[in-house]
Amino acid sequence: MHSVYDGIEEHDNHLPNWWLFILWTSIIFSAGYWFWYHIAEVGPGQLGEYAAESAEVAKRASGNAPASDGMLLALAKDPASLESGKQVFQANCAACHGVQGQGSIGPNLTDAYWMHGGGPMAIHKVVADGVVAKGMPAWERTLGAERVKAVTAYLLTLKGTNAPGGKEPQGEPEQP
Ligand code: HEC
Repeated sequence: MHSVYDGIEEHDNHLPNWWLFILWTSIIFSAGYWFWYHIAEVGPGQLGEYAAESAEVAKRASGNAPASDGMLLALAKDPASLESGKQVFQANCAACHGVQGQGSIGPNLTDAYWMHGGGPMAIHKVVADGVVAKGMPAWERTLGAERVKAVTAYLLTLKGTNAPGGKEPQGEPEQP
C-alpha cells in the first residue's frame, strides 16, 4: 500500500528485522518472566526476596547477640552451626588440640577435666579471649563472634567423647 494525502506520501515499509527481533524477544521474555516468578514461582519473587533478606538480617543480629549458656547449648544442637564449628576447629585448633580434640600442645578437650571450666560460657571465654601467656591464642578478633560461638558449640559435642590416644587430664573434673 502506498497512499498520498495532500502531497504527503505514506510509505508502507516492512518493519526492520532488528525491530521485530526486539519486539518478539521482549514478548517471549515477559511470558517467561511471568511464568517463572508468578505461575511456577521458581524464582523467589519480591516477597521471597524480602523474606530471604529479613532472615539474613535476623541471622546477623543473632550472630551479634552476646553468647549465653542457653544460646551455646542451642547451637550445639544445630547441624549447620556444628558443621561450621567443626571446620573452624580443623582449620585453627587441630594443630594444637589434635584433629579429634584429644590434645597435643594444647590440652585434651574430650575428657572431663578443665583448667578454665567446662561450662558453655567458661569454654566460650577461653576461646574468645585466649590464655595468651600459656600459649592459647585469643580468637574473637581473628575469627569473629559468630565463628567463636560455632566452634564453642562444636567443643560442647566433643566434651566427654574421650578420644582415643588422648593427652593426660589437666585441670579439675568439671563440677556438675
Ligand atoms: C598455638 C596452640 C593453640 C591453638 C592454635 C589453640 N589452642 Fe586452645 N589451648 C592451647 C593451650 C596451650 C591451652 C592451655 C592454656 C592454659 O594452660 O591455661 C589451650 C586451652 C584451651 C582451652 C581450655 C581448656 C581447659 O582445660 O580449660 C580451650 C577450650 C581451647 N584451648 C580451645 C581452643 C580452640 C577452640 C581453638 C581454635 C579456635 C584453640 N584452642 C586453638 C593452645 C592452643
